[in-house]
Amino acid sequence: MNLRGRNFLKLLDFTSDEIRYLLDLSAELKRMKMAGVSHRYLTGKNIVLLFEKTSTRTRCAFEVGAMDLGLGVTFLDPGSSQMGKKESIADTARVLGRMYDGIEYRGFSQKIVEDIARYSGVPVWNGLTDDFHPTQVLAALLTIEEKLGRLRGLNFTFMGDARNNVANSMMIGCAKMGLNFTACAPSHLYPKAELIREAEKIAAKTGSTLRFTSDIDEGASDTDIIYTDIWVSMGEPDSVWEERIAALKKYQVNKDLMAKAKPTALFMHCLPSFHDTNTSIGAEIAKKFGLPEMEVTDEVFESEQSVVFDEAENRMHTIKAVMYATLK
Ligand code: CP
Ligand code: NVA
Repeated sequence: MNLRGRNFLKLLDFTSDEIRYLLDLSAELKRMKMAGVSHRYLTGKNIVLLFEKTSTRTRCAFEVGAMDLGLGVTFLDPGSSQMGKKESIADTARVLGRMYDGIEYRGFSQKIVEDIARYSGVPVWNGLTDDFHPTQVLAALLTIEEKLGRLRGLNFTFMGDARNNVANSMMIGCAKMGLNFTACAPSHLYPKAELIREAEKIAAKTGSTLRFTSDIDEGASDTDIIYTDIWVSMGEPDSVWEERIAALKKYQVNKDLMAKAKPTALFMHCLPSFHDTNTSIGAEIAKKFGLPEMEVTDEVFESEQSVVFDEAENRMHTIKAVMYATLK
């Protein structure tokens, strides 16, 4: 398998075998890290991380993964580059492509990350856009495989805002890797029809199934994984909180909902999560709407079934694999 020179912009661009290769490579790099075996395979190369939205996991995963591989790293936040304000995306990409061997971008439209890839001439990695979050899915799949021993044939349920970047990417990732995907959400929060059609074509080849339901019993019953995400994503206006809470309140992942799933079911979340009032937004929502926990209760978040921090750790091992595979 040779992914050298490839971009990592969305999972739709990768075959099931290529995703399999990236997961196996992630597991191998994780074993090396755990055993203290040096893997500074990319010494002498440099990468730049462009963030137009905030981040903890993705930024740290890229930085630590890069340092472990021997790469030099520059971090640019929206306040510290000319991009967008004084210099176009195309010009910025051409400049960065002359200096760096790879570029990570987190920001708004998918078109921007696709444009950076077109103009820079070096591998570009999507660290989250409004439409997709493909590196998150690699971490989720690696975690599922570690915990449940396989991917193919498992039932995966996404609860909540099923048309956000994480849900879109999970739908494609599940279809590619043979997991049965259910979106459990009000119908206006299902993924876009066009993306569902793409996923259906993939599922027809891999043998996985896709289901869209607003019924919680149907969505949660007999599932192996319950996944959720925040109800309002970065870049959405604060004014949507009220309608989103009203629409998604009954999709909150709580003890009763987990009880409908298989007893062995995992609870997963890309994080960050509003499971208590220990954040400024969490406290504000609790005060305004009387809701101290949102997409998941603290009880489920802290339960034995919750593998959220394993998934967070796996961001680093999987992102490292993406960088290594595309730059080696
Ligand atoms: N899951 C995730 O992408 O986290 P960050 O926003 O902290 O990068
Ligand atoms: N859907 C969330 C994911 C954060 C990692 C957002 O875009 O804010």
